[in-house]
Amino acid sequence: MNIASSSLLVYSVTIVLFTLVYANQKLGAPNPQPQQICPEQNDIAPCICTVKKNGLDILCETTDLAHITKSMGTLKGQSPIIFYLKLRHNNLPKLQGFVFLALDIRHLTIHNSSLAAIEENALSSLGNGLTQLDVSQNQMKTVPSAALKHLFRLLILNLNHNKIGVIHNNAFEGLDTLEILTLYENKIVTIEPEAFRGVEKKLKRLNLGGNDLTVIPQKALSILDSLKKLEIQENKIGSIHEGDFAGMESLDSLILAHNMITSVPANVFSHLSILNSLELEGNKIEIIDKDGFKGLEENLQYLRLGDNNIQSIPSEALRPLHRLRHLDLRNNNISFIQEDAFTGYGDSLTFLNLQKNDIKFLPSMIFENLNSLETLNVQNNKLSHIPQDIMEPITDTLRIIDITDNPLICSCELTWFPRLLQDLKNRDDEMAQKNKPACLMPIENRQYYVQTMPLEKMNCGGKNASPSPIPQNLLRMNAFALSIFTVVSRF
Ligand SMILES: *[C@@H]1O[C@H](CO)[C@@H](O)[C@H](O)[C@H]1NC(C)=O
Ligand SMILES: *[C@@H]1O[C@H](CO)[C@@H](O)[C@H](O)[C@H]1NC(C)=O
Repeated sequence: MNIASSSLLVYSVTIVLFTLVYANQKLGAPNPQPQQICPEQNDIAPCICTVKKNGLDILCETTDLAHITKSMGTLKGQSPIIFYLKLRHNNLPKLQGFVFLALDIRHLTIHNSSLAAIEENALSSLGNGLTQLDVSQNQMKTVPSAALKHLFRLLILNLNHNKIGVIHNNAFEGLDTLEILTLYENKIVTIEPEAFRGVEKKLKRLNLGGNDLTVIPQKALSILDSLKKLEIQENKIGSIHEGDFAGMESLDSLILAHNMITSVPANVFSHLSILNSLELEGNKIEIIDKDGFKGLEENLQYLRLGDNNIQSIPSEALRPLHRLRHLDLRNNNISFIQEDAFTGYGDSLTFLNLQKNDIKFLPSMIFENLNSLETLNVQNNKLSHIPQDIMEPITDTLRIIDITDNPLICSCELTWFPRLLQDLKNRDDEMAQKNKPACLMPIENRQYYVQTMPLEKMNCGGKNASPSPIPQNLLRMNAFALSIFTVVSRF
Protein backbone atom coordinates (compact mmCIF):
# COMPACT_ATOMS: atom_id res chain seq x y z
CA MET A 1 0.00 0.00 0.00
CA ASN A 2 1.43 3.36 -0.93
CA ILE A 3 1.35 6.52 1.12
CA ALA A 4 -1.55 8.06 -0.80
CA SER A 5 -3.85 5.11 -0.31
CA SER A 6 -2.90 4.65 3.35
CA SER A 7 -3.67 8.28 4.10
CA LEU A 8 -6.92 7.87 2.20
CA LEU A 9 -7.71 4.93 4.45
CA VAL A 10 -6.96 6.98 7.57
CA TYR A 11 -9.16 9.68 6.16
CA SER A 12 -12.11 7.36 5.54
CA VAL A 13 -11.74 5.72 8.93
CA THR A 14 -11.80 9.17 10.50
CA ILE A 15 -15.01 9.98 8.65
CA VAL A 16 -16.61 6.72 9.71
CA LEU A 17 -15.61 7.29 13.34
CA PHE A 18 -16.86 10.85 13.21
CA THR A 19 -20.19 9.68 11.79
CA LEU A 20 -20.50 7.06 14.52
CA VAL A 21 -19.77 9.56 17.25
CA TYR A 22 -22.19 12.01 15.75
CA ALA A 23 -24.91 9.37 15.42
CA ASN A 24 -24.33 8.33 19.00
CA GLN A 25 -24.74 11.86 20.18
CA LYS A 26 -27.95 12.25 18.28
CA LEU A 27 -29.45 8.97 19.34
CA GLY A 28 -28.01 8.98 22.86
CA ALA A 29 -24.88 6.95 23.56
CA PRO A 30 -25.51 3.37 24.64
CA ASN A 31 -25.59 2.91 28.42
CA PRO A 32 -25.12 6.51 29.50
CA GLN A 33 -24.81 7.11 33.24
CA PRO A 34 -28.37 7.31 34.50
CA GLN A 35 -29.32 10.84 35.45
CA GLN A 36 -29.19 11.12 39.22
CA ILE A 37 -32.41 12.19 40.90
CA CYS A 38 -32.80 13.69 44.37
CA PRO A 39 -35.38 12.17 46.72
CA GLU A 40 -38.36 14.30 47.69
CA GLN A 41 -37.11 17.06 49.98
CA ASN A 42 -39.51 15.95 52.73
CA ASP A 43 -38.08 12.44 52.66
CA ILE A 44 -34.51 13.53 53.43
CA ALA A 45 -35.15 16.60 55.59
CA PRO A 46 -33.32 18.13 57.37
CA CYS A 47 -30.72 17.29 54.72
CA ILE A 48 -30.78 19.08 51.38
CA CYS A 49 -30.10 17.44 48.04
CA THR A 50 -28.94 19.01 44.79
CA VAL A 51 -28.00 17.34 41.53
CA LYS A 52 -24.42 17.88 40.37
CA LYS A 53 -22.79 16.80 37.14
CA ASN A 54 -21.23 13.70 38.66
CA GLY A 55 -23.90 12.75 41.18
CA LEU A 56 -25.87 14.07 44.10
CA ASP A 57 -24.66 16.64 46.57
CA ILE A 58 -26.21 16.08 50.01
CA LEU A 59 -25.78 18.59 52.82
CA CYS A 60 -26.89 17.94 56.41
CA GLU A 61 -26.26 20.69 58.95
CA THR A 62 -27.04 21.25 62.65
CA THR A 63 -28.81 17.96 63.14
CA ASP A 64 -28.04 14.62 64.81
CA LEU A 65 -27.34 10.98 64.12
CA ALA A 66 -30.99 9.90 64.24
CA HIS A 67 -32.01 12.35 61.50
CA ILE A 68 -28.95 11.62 59.41
CA THR A 69 -29.52 7.86 59.67
CA LYS A 70 -33.12 8.34 58.53
CA SER A 71 -32.04 10.42 55.54
CA MET A 72 -29.42 7.85 54.58
CA GLY A 73 -32.18 5.21 54.72
CA THR A 74 -34.18 7.15 52.13
CA LEU A 75 -31.14 7.40 49.84
CA LYS A 76 -30.39 3.67 50.10
CA GLY A 77 -33.72 2.90 48.41
CA GLN A 78 -32.58 4.73 45.26
CA SER A 79 -28.90 3.70 45.28
CA PRO A 80 -27.68 6.92 43.62
CA ILE A 81 -24.10 8.10 43.25
CA ILE A 82 -23.58 10.53 46.09
CA PHE A 83 -20.73 12.67 44.86
CA TYR A 84 -20.65 14.81 48.00
CA LEU A 85 -22.04 13.97 51.40
CA LYS A 86 -21.40 16.94 53.67
CA LEU A 87 -22.31 16.67 57.34
CA ARG A 88 -21.47 19.93 59.11
CA HIS A 89 -22.09 21.49 62.50
CA ASN A 90 -23.93 18.41 63.70
CA ASN A 91 -23.98 16.57 66.97
CA LEU A 92 -22.35 13.31 65.95
CA PRO A 93 -20.01 12.20 68.75
CA LYS A 94 -19.80 8.69 67.37
CA LEU A 95 -20.15 7.39 63.84
CA GLN A 96 -21.94 4.01 64.15
CA GLY A 97 -21.08 0.93 62.20
CA PHE A 98 -22.81 0.46 58.85
CA VAL A 99 -24.43 3.91 58.84
CA PHE A 100 -23.50 4.33 55.16
CA LEU A 101 -24.08 0.69 54.16
CA ALA A 102 -25.25 0.30 50.55
CA LEU A 103 -24.45 3.90 49.68
CA ASP A 104 -21.99 4.93 46.98
CA ILE A 105 -20.27 8.01 48.40
CA ARG A 106 -17.28 9.61 46.67
CA HIS A 107 -16.48 12.58 48.89
CA LEU A 108 -17.44 12.47 52.55
CA THR A 109 -17.16 15.43 54.91
CA ILE A 110 -17.95 15.27 58.60
CA HIS A 111 -16.90 18.70 59.79
CA ASN A 112 -17.34 20.43 63.15
CA SER A 113 -19.64 17.73 64.39
CA SER A 114 -18.12 16.76 67.79
CA LEU A 115 -16.96 13.53 66.22
CA ALA A 116 -14.78 11.64 68.69
CA ALA A 117 -15.03 8.05 67.48
CA ILE A 118 -15.57 6.27 64.19
CA GLU A 119 -16.59 2.64 64.66
CA GLU A 120 -14.57 0.12 62.76
CA ASN A 121 -17.37 -0.70 60.31
CA ALA A 122 -18.74 2.79 59.81
CA LEU A 123 -16.80 3.41 56.61
CA SER A 124 -15.86 -0.11 55.51
CA SER A 125 -18.63 -0.32 52.90
CA LEU A 126 -17.35 2.84 51.16
CA GLY A 127 -13.99 1.39 50.17
CA ASN A 128 -14.80 1.01 46.50
CA GLY A 129 -15.85 4.57 45.84
CA LEU A 130 -14.59 6.96 48.50
CA THR A 131 -11.76 9.19 47.27
CA GLN A 132 -11.92 12.05 49.78
CA LEU A 133 -12.55 11.99 53.48
CA ASP A 134 -12.65 15.18 55.51
CA VAL A 135 -13.21 14.80 59.25
CA SER A 136 -11.76 18.17 60.23
CA GLN A 137 -12.68 20.25 63.26
CA ASN A 138 -13.77 17.44 65.51
CA GLN A 139 -12.76 15.82 68.79
CA MET A 140 -10.69 12.85 67.67
CA LYS A 141 -7.81 12.00 69.96
CA THR A 142 -6.29 9.30 67.74
CA VAL A 143 -6.24 8.46 64.07
CA PRO A 144 -9.26 6.16 63.54
CA SER A 145 -7.03 3.56 61.87
CA ALA A 146 -9.39 0.58 62.10
CA ALA A 147 -12.17 2.54 60.39
CA LEU A 148 -9.85 3.84 57.67
CA LYS A 149 -8.12 0.65 56.68
CA HIS A 150 -10.71 -0.42 54.07
CA LEU A 151 -10.54 2.84 52.13
CA PHE A 152 -8.23 1.52 49.46
CA ARG A 153 -9.22 4.15 46.89
CA LEU A 154 -8.80 7.16 49.15
CA LEU A 155 -6.74 10.02 47.70
CA ILE A 156 -7.22 12.77 50.27
CA LEU A 157 -7.57 12.49 54.04
CA ASN A 158 -8.14 15.64 56.10
CA LEU A 159 -7.85 15.31 59.87
CA ASN A 160 -7.18 19.00 60.53
CA HIS A 161 -8.30 20.59 63.79
CA ASN A 162 -8.72 17.54 65.94
CA LYS A 163 -7.03 16.57 69.18
CA ILE A 164 -4.65 13.88 67.99
CA GLY A 165 -1.58 13.70 70.24
CA VAL A 166 0.31 10.69 68.89
CA ILE A 167 0.50 9.12 65.44
CA HIS A 168 0.95 5.44 66.11
CA ASN A 169 2.81 2.96 63.96
CA ASN A 170 0.77 1.89 60.92
CA ALA A 171 -1.89 4.49 61.63
CA PHE A 172 -2.75 4.78 57.93
CA GLU A 173 -2.24 1.18 56.88
CA GLY A 174 -4.48 0.14 54.01
CA LEU A 175 -4.64 3.60 52.43
CA ASP A 176 -2.52 2.42 49.54
CA THR A 177 -3.58 5.19 47.17
CA LEU A 178 -3.44 8.13 49.59
CA GLU A 179 -1.78 11.21 48.06
CA ILE A 180 -2.65 14.01 50.45
CA LEU A 181 -2.69 13.75 54.23
CA THR A 182 -3.27 16.78 56.37
CA LEU A 183 -3.09 16.86 60.15
CA TYR A 184 -2.89 20.62 60.63
CA GLU A 185 -3.70 21.99 64.10
CA ASN A 186 -3.81 18.87 66.18
CA LYS A 187 -1.81 18.28 69.34
CA ILE A 188 0.78 15.97 67.89
CA VAL A 189 3.80 15.51 70.13
CA THR A 190 4.97 12.13 68.90
CA ILE A 191 5.07 10.44 65.53
CA GLU A 192 6.15 6.83 65.86
CA PRO A 193 8.82 5.50 63.49
CA GLU A 194 6.43 3.40 61.38
CA ALA A 195 3.56 5.89 61.48
CA PHE A 196 3.39 6.30 57.69
CA ARG A 197 4.01 2.65 56.79
CA GLY A 198 1.52 1.76 54.06
CA VAL A 199 1.17 5.20 52.49
CA GLU A 200 4.79 5.67 51.49
CA LYS A 201 4.32 4.75 47.83
CA LYS A 202 1.85 7.43 46.80
CA LEU A 203 1.89 10.14 49.44
CA LYS A 204 2.65 13.49 47.78
CA ARG A 205 1.67 16.05 50.38
CA LEU A 206 1.85 15.88 54.14
CA ASN A 207 0.82 18.71 56.45
CA LEU A 208 1.94 18.42 60.05
CA GLY A 209 1.69 22.16 60.72
CA GLY A 210 0.26 23.66 63.89
CA ASN A 211 1.25 20.81 66.18
CA ASP A 212 3.58 20.39 69.15
CA LEU A 213 6.50 18.61 67.55
CA THR A 214 9.86 19.48 69.08
CA VAL A 215 11.97 17.47 66.64
CA ILE A 216 11.69 16.43 63.00
CA PRO A 217 10.10 12.94 63.06
CA GLN A 218 12.99 11.71 60.96
CA LYS A 219 12.39 7.94 61.11
CA ALA A 220 8.73 8.21 60.18
CA LEU A 221 9.42 10.61 57.31
CA SER A 222 12.40 8.76 55.91
CA ILE A 223 10.25 6.23 54.01
CA LEU A 224 8.26 8.90 52.14
CA ASP A 225 10.28 8.88 48.96
CA SER A 226 7.41 10.17 46.78
CA LEU A 227 6.60 13.12 48.99
CA LYS A 228 6.66 16.45 47.15
CA LYS A 229 5.49 18.88 49.80
CA LEU A 230 6.13 18.69 53.53
CA GLU A 231 4.66 21.26 55.90
CA ILE A 232 5.89 21.32 59.51
CA GLN A 233 5.31 25.01 60.17
CA GLU A 234 4.03 26.28 63.51
CA ASN A 235 5.50 23.57 65.70
CA LYS A 236 8.10 23.83 68.44
CA ILE A 237 11.11 22.50 66.63
CA GLY A 238 14.24 23.97 68.24
CA SER A 239 16.90 22.46 66.02
CA ILE A 240 17.37 20.60 62.78
CA HIS A 241 20.18 18.14 62.08
CA GLU A 242 22.04 16.51 59.25
CA GLY A 243 20.03 13.47 58.18
CA ASP A 244 16.67 14.83 59.34
CA PHE A 245 15.37 14.86 55.77
CA ALA A 246 17.10 11.75 54.48
CA GLY A 247 14.92 9.56 52.29
CA MET A 248 12.65 12.28 50.95
CA GLU A 249 14.38 12.52 47.58
CA SER A 250 11.30 13.80 45.74
CA LEU A 251 10.67 16.76 48.01
CA ASP A 252 9.94 19.96 46.09
CA SER A 253 8.74 22.21 48.90
CA LEU A 254 9.69 22.21 52.57
CA ILE A 255 7.98 24.51 55.04
CA LEU A 256 9.63 24.88 58.43
CA ALA A 257 8.38 28.38 59.12
CA HIS A 258 7.39 29.56 62.60
CA ASN A 259 9.31 27.11 64.69
CA MET A 260 12.13 27.84 67.12
CA ILE A 261 15.08 26.86 64.97
CA THR A 262 18.23 28.77 65.97
CA SER A 263 20.72 27.56 63.38
CA VAL A 264 21.03 25.95 59.98
CA PRO A 265 23.83 23.41 60.37
CA ALA A 266 26.01 22.01 57.60
CA ASN A 267 24.41 19.51 55.21
CA VAL A 268 21.02 19.53 56.91
CA PHE A 269 19.18 19.63 53.56
CA SER A 270 21.77 17.71 51.60
CA HIS A 271 19.36 14.90 50.67
CA LEU A 272 16.87 17.26 49.06
CA SER A 273 18.54 17.69 45.70
CA ILE A 274 15.35 18.64 43.82
CA LEU A 275 14.00 21.01 46.46
CA ASN A 276 12.59 24.15 44.83
CA SER A 277 11.26 26.09 47.80
CA LEU A 278 12.49 26.32 51.38
CA GLU A 279 10.61 28.34 53.97
CA LEU A 280 12.40 29.09 57.21
CA GLU A 281 10.81 32.39 58.15
CA GLY A 282 9.68 33.17 61.67
CA ASN A 283 12.30 31.11 63.48
CA LYS A 284 15.13 32.29 65.69
CA ILE A 285 17.91 31.65 63.24
CA GLU A 286 21.17 33.41 64.04
CA ILE A 287 23.70 31.07 62.51
CA ILE A 288 23.75 29.65 59.02
CA ASP A 289 26.66 27.32 58.34
CA LYS A 290 28.52 27.95 55.11
CA ASP A 291 27.38 24.46 54.04
CA GLY A 292 23.88 24.97 55.39
CA PHE A 293 22.28 24.81 51.94
CA LYS A 294 24.60 22.20 50.51
CA GLY A 295 22.81 19.84 48.14
CA LEU A 296 20.27 22.45 47.05
CA GLU A 297 22.48 24.00 44.36
CA GLU A 298 20.70 22.68 41.31
CA ASN A 299 17.07 23.43 42.09
CA LEU A 300 16.44 25.83 44.93
CA GLN A 301 14.59 28.92 43.67
CA TYR A 302 12.71 30.23 46.68
CA LEU A 303 14.35 30.82 50.03
CA ARG A 304 12.51 32.54 52.84
CA LEU A 305 14.57 33.57 55.84
CA GLY A 306 12.51 36.55 57.01
CA ASP A 307 11.66 37.22 60.66
CA ASN A 308 14.77 35.64 62.10
CA ASN A 309 17.78 37.02 63.89
CA ILE A 310 20.33 36.96 61.10
CA GLN A 311 23.12 39.56 61.45
CA SER A 312 24.43 39.57 57.89
CA ILE A 313 23.52 38.22 54.48
CA PRO A 314 24.62 34.58 54.66
CA SER A 315 26.52 34.89 51.40
CA GLU A 316 28.94 31.99 51.92
CA ALA A 317 26.01 29.59 52.23
CA LEU A 318 24.11 31.21 49.35
CA ARG A 319 26.87 31.47 46.75
CA PRO A 320 26.44 27.95 45.31
CA LEU A 321 22.67 28.47 44.82
CA HIS A 322 22.91 29.53 41.23
CA ARG A 323 19.19 29.07 40.52
CA LEU A 324 17.96 31.21 43.40
CA ARG A 325 15.25 33.63 42.26
CA HIS A 326 13.56 34.77 45.42
CA LEU A 327 15.50 35.68 48.54
CA ASP A 328 13.62 36.98 51.53
CA LEU A 329 15.66 38.35 54.44
CA ARG A 330 13.10 40.79 55.80
CA ASN A 331 12.92 41.69 59.44
CA ASN A 332 16.27 40.38 60.55
CA ASN A 333 19.07 42.25 62.24
CA ILE A 334 21.26 42.96 59.23
CA SER A 335 23.20 46.19 59.70
CA PHE A 336 26.14 45.67 57.41
CA ILE A 337 26.27 44.43 53.82
CA GLN A 338 29.53 43.14 52.41
CA GLU A 339 30.65 44.34 49.00
CA ASP A 340 30.43 40.78 47.62
CA ALA A 341 27.17 39.88 49.37
CA PHE A 342 25.51 38.66 46.14
CA THR A 343 28.54 37.39 44.28
CA GLY A 344 28.05 33.94 42.85
CA TYR A 345 24.27 33.74 43.06
CA GLY A 346 22.99 37.27 42.37
CA ASP A 347 22.61 36.67 38.63
CA SER A 348 19.42 34.67 38.96
CA LEU A 349 17.74 36.75 41.69
CA THR A 350 14.49 38.39 40.61
CA PHE A 351 13.12 39.18 44.03
CA LEU A 352 15.07 40.54 46.97
CA ASN A 353 13.56 41.44 50.34
CA LEU A 354 15.77 43.36 52.75
CA GLN A 355 13.15 45.52 54.42
CA LYS A 356 12.94 45.96 58.17
CA ASN A 357 16.60 45.53 58.88
CA ASP A 358 19.16 47.93 60.20
CA ILE A 359 21.04 48.65 56.98
CA LYS A 360 22.79 52.03 57.04
CA PHE A 361 24.92 51.79 53.97
CA LEU A 362 24.93 50.07 50.57
CA PRO A 363 28.41 49.33 49.19
CA SER A 364 28.96 50.81 45.76
CA MET A 365 29.12 47.58 43.75
CA ILE A 366 26.43 45.77 45.71
CA PHE A 367 23.92 45.30 42.86
CA GLU A 368 26.60 44.92 40.17
CA ASN A 369 25.66 41.38 39.09
CA LEU A 370 21.93 41.37 39.88
CA ASN A 371 21.04 41.23 36.21
CA SER A 372 17.54 39.84 36.65
CA LEU A 373 16.32 41.78 39.64
CA GLU A 374 12.67 42.84 39.33
CA THR A 375 11.67 43.57 42.91
CA LEU A 376 13.81 45.30 45.50
CA ASN A 377 12.49 46.00 48.97
CA VAL A 378 14.79 48.04 51.19
CA GLN A 379 12.14 50.05 53.03
CA ASN A 380 12.37 50.41 56.77
CA ASN A 381 16.12 50.54 57.10
CA LYS A 382 18.57 53.25 58.12
CA LEU A 383 19.69 54.34 54.67
CA SER A 384 20.44 58.02 54.26
CA HIS A 385 21.99 57.71 50.79
CA ILE A 386 21.15 55.53 47.81
CA PRO A 387 23.38 56.89 45.08
CA GLN A 388 22.66 56.49 41.42
CA ASP A 389 25.86 54.49 40.81
CA ILE A 390 24.61 51.75 43.06
CA MET A 391 21.26 51.53 41.32
CA GLU A 392 22.55 51.78 37.76
CA PRO A 393 23.05 48.04 37.19
CA ILE A 394 19.45 47.17 38.09
CA THR A 395 17.34 50.08 36.79
CA ASP A 396 16.73 48.28 33.48
CA THR A 397 15.14 45.24 35.03
CA LEU A 398 13.49 46.65 38.18
CA ARG A 399 9.71 46.73 38.16
CA ILE A 400 9.04 47.26 41.83
CA ILE A 401 11.14 49.17 44.30
CA ASP A 402 10.43 50.38 47.80
CA ILE A 403 12.81 52.75 49.59
CA THR A 404 10.26 54.28 51.98
CA ASP A 405 10.88 54.62 55.69
CA ASN A 406 14.55 55.37 55.43
CA PRO A 407 16.14 58.58 56.78
CA LEU A 408 16.98 59.69 53.24
CA ILE A 409 18.72 62.99 52.62
CA CYS A 410 17.43 64.92 49.59
CA SER A 411 20.30 65.18 47.16
CA CYS A 412 21.10 65.04 43.48
CA GLU A 413 22.30 61.48 43.83
CA LEU A 414 18.65 60.49 44.48
CA THR A 415 17.31 61.82 41.17
CA TRP A 416 17.45 58.31 39.76
CA PHE A 417 14.33 57.58 41.76
CA PRO A 418 11.86 59.96 40.09
CA ARG A 419 13.35 59.03 36.73
CA LEU A 420 12.91 55.33 37.45
CA LEU A 421 9.29 55.87 38.46
CA GLN A 422 8.64 57.72 35.23
CA ASP A 423 10.33 54.93 33.30
CA LEU A 424 8.21 52.32 35.02
CA LYS A 425 5.07 54.29 34.24
CA ASN A 426 6.07 54.55 30.60
CA ARG A 427 6.83 50.87 30.43
CA ASP A 428 3.52 49.75 31.83
CA ASP A 429 0.36 51.80 32.18
CA GLU A 430 -0.92 49.76 35.06
CA MET A 431 2.15 50.43 37.09
CA ALA A 432 0.88 52.69 39.83
CA GLN A 433 2.86 54.43 42.43
CA LYS A 434 1.38 53.78 45.81
CA ASN A 435 3.71 55.17 48.39
CA LYS A 436 6.06 58.05 48.33
CA PRO A 437 9.41 58.00 50.05
CA ALA A 438 10.30 61.24 51.73
CA CYS A 439 13.70 62.83 52.17
CA LEU A 440 15.09 65.54 54.37
CA MET A 441 16.43 68.72 52.82
CA PRO A 442 19.11 69.66 55.36
CA ILE A 443 19.52 73.34 54.46
CA GLU A 444 15.83 73.92 55.03
CA ASN A 445 15.41 71.19 57.60
CA ARG A 446 12.28 70.24 55.79
CA GLN A 447 10.85 67.07 54.23
CA TYR A 448 10.10 66.59 50.57
CA TYR A 449 8.82 63.68 48.61
CA VAL A 450 11.73 62.24 46.67
CA GLN A 451 9.61 62.46 43.50
CA THR A 452 9.30 66.20 43.89
CA MET A 453 12.61 67.30 45.38
CA PRO A 454 13.25 71.00 44.55
CA LEU A 455 15.93 70.24 42.01
CA GLU A 456 16.46 73.90 41.08
CA LYS A 457 17.54 74.59 44.63
CA MET A 458 19.86 71.64 44.48
CA ASN A 459 21.76 72.46 41.31
CA CYS A 460 21.13 69.07 39.80
CA GLY A 461 20.33 70.37 36.34
CA GLY A 462 16.67 69.27 36.29
CA LYS A 463 15.07 72.54 35.07
CA ASN A 464 11.42 71.63 34.88
CA ALA A 465 10.95 70.02 38.22
CA SER A 466 8.97 72.34 40.43
CA PRO A 467 9.38 72.39 44.17
CA SER A 468 6.58 70.88 46.10
CA PRO A 469 7.24 70.88 49.79
CA ILE A 470 4.96 68.69 51.80
CA PRO A 471 2.66 70.78 53.99
CA GLN A 472 3.78 70.31 57.56
CA ASN A 473 0.36 69.19 58.80
CA LEU A 474 0.18 66.55 56.09
CA LEU A 475 3.63 65.41 57.10
CA ARG A 476 2.60 64.99 60.68
CA MET A 477 -0.54 63.20 59.62
CA ASN A 478 1.55 60.94 57.47
CA ALA A 479 4.29 60.28 59.96
CA PHE A 480 2.79 56.90 60.68
CA ALA A 481 1.20 56.37 57.33
CA LEU A 482 4.76 56.43 56.06
CA SER A 483 5.11 52.93 57.36
CA ILE A 484 4.37 52.36 53.81
CA PHE A 485 4.56 49.42 51.55
CA THR A 486 5.51 49.04 47.92
CA VAL A 487 6.19 52.21 46.04
CA VAL A 488 5.26 50.87 42.74
CA SER A 489 3.12 47.87 42.55
CA ARG A 490 1.63 45.85 39.82
CA PHE A 491 -2.07 45.08 39.92
C1 LIG B 1 -19.65 24.34 64.93
O1 LIG B 1 -20.97 23.89 65.08
C2 LIG B 1 -21.71 24.54 66.06
C3 LIG B 1 -23.07 23.87 66.13
O2 LIG B 1 -22.90 22.52 66.46
C4 LIG B 1 -21.83 26.01 65.72
O3 LIG B 1 -22.55 26.69 66.74
C5 LIG B 1 -20.47 26.60 65.57
O4 LIG B 1 -20.57 27.94 65.13
C6 LIG B 1 -19.67 25.81 64.55
N1 LIG B 1 -18.32 26.30 64.53
C7 LIG B 1 -17.70 26.62 63.40
C8 LIG B 1 -16.31 27.11 63.54
O5 LIG B 1 -18.23 26.54 62.31
C1 LIG C 1 21.39 43.20 66.44
O1 LIG C 1 22.74 43.38 66.08
C2 LIG C 1 23.47 44.25 66.92
C3 LIG C 1 24.87 44.34 66.37
O2 LIG C 1 24.87 44.69 65.04
C4 LIG C 1 23.48 43.73 68.33
O3 LIG C 1 24.11 44.65 69.18
C5 LIG C 1 22.05 43.52 68.81
O4 LIG C 1 22.04 42.92 70.06
C6 LIG C 1 21.30 42.62 67.82
N1 LIG C 1 19.91 42.53 68.22
C7 LIG C 1 19.37 41.36 68.53
C8 LIG C 1 17.93 41.43 68.89
O5 LIG C 1 19.99 40.33 68.55
